[in-house]
Amino acid sequence: MQAQVVALRDVTPTVREFELRPRREGEGEGGLAGAYEPGAHLQVQVMTAQGRLQTRSYSLVGEGDGRCWRIAVKRLDDGRGGSLAMWRLAVGDRLQVSAPQNHFGLDLSAPGYLLVAGGIGITPLVLMAQRLAAHARRTGVPVKMLYGARNAEEFGYLAHLRDALGEGVTAHEGSTPIDFAAAIAALPAGGQLYTCGPVPMLEAVKRAWHAAGRPIADLRFETFGSSGRLATQSFQVCIPRHDLTLTVPADCTLLEALDAAGVQTLWDCKRGECGLCAMDVIAVDGEIDHRDVFLSEHEKQSTTRICACVSRAVGTLTLDSAYRADS
Ligand code: FES
Repeated sequence: MQAQVVALRDVTPTVREFELRPRREGEGEGGLAGAYEPGAHLQVQVMTAQGRLQTRSYSLVGEGDGRCWRIAVKRLDDGRGGSLAMWRLAVGDRLQVSAPQNHFGLDLSAPGYLLVAGGIGITPLVLMAQRLAAHARRTGVPVKMLYGARNAEEFGYLAHLRDALGEGVTAHEGSTPIDFAAAIAALPAGGQLYTCGPVPMLEAVKRAWHAAGRPIADLRFETFGSSGRLATQSFQVCIPRHDLTLTVPADCTLLEALDAAGVQTLWDCKRGECGLCAMDVIAVDGEIDHRDVFLSEHEKQSTTRICACVSRAVGTLTLDSAYRADS
């Protein structure tokens, strides 16, 4: 459906909030935004500066009012161009959006909760904090939150979180490592942890969760495909099995480039979580920037596989696909 930008607000120097009012062709504007659950996101179509139409997922921020959706976008000057396209929008502009979808649902049956957000990863957790605060008032189930940001100006939603959780929120500024082990130790047995943030933070949370012997099913996370170690740039890919060499442009994922070149791929989440798109790496002339949370740290270091939906490289990769000619 179409949505119109009805308001813009900079919540930090690098994060802009968009209020979008959905409308269907020939219909009025009332009530289309409907209700949604914590963890929901919109798919949004953006036109990059290179004229490529791309789809991005943005979490819905906070409780809705039934008329509009709110999303927040971090401006990434060295990203794939989606955030810059969003930042070029003005009030009154229209764009294509999906209805809300949710792969990061909140389960209210646990005896305690820990929320961990890093940077723009706060967006899906704002509504979780608000719903869990209401749940805590009804049931007494404890909720704690850790919120990390690069500097004090980048705590975009801290006031909302303090309103909901009061002293239950701890803000961590700068690059000092957060003591996830201590926070996990304070979580009651059977408690759940919900986290969203950059890949290194998610890896640290996963390590601490495993070290505490907690069940993996109680750790719920969502990634965003922009959290690379290296700046996003074009790179080369050779696939001897298909006798193919191609360039992956900066505003395109490896998966999209393979698809455009006619290489059949498997995929599901497109967020670096399920591993279905993982391809074998034959050689690396340069460096891989792993942006997934599926491969183990050992696999990432040994550079034997790459998740094509989010991970990138600098230089040239030689890959193998799963394609096998019929014998
Ligand atoms: S499609 Fe799920 S990790 Fe790439």
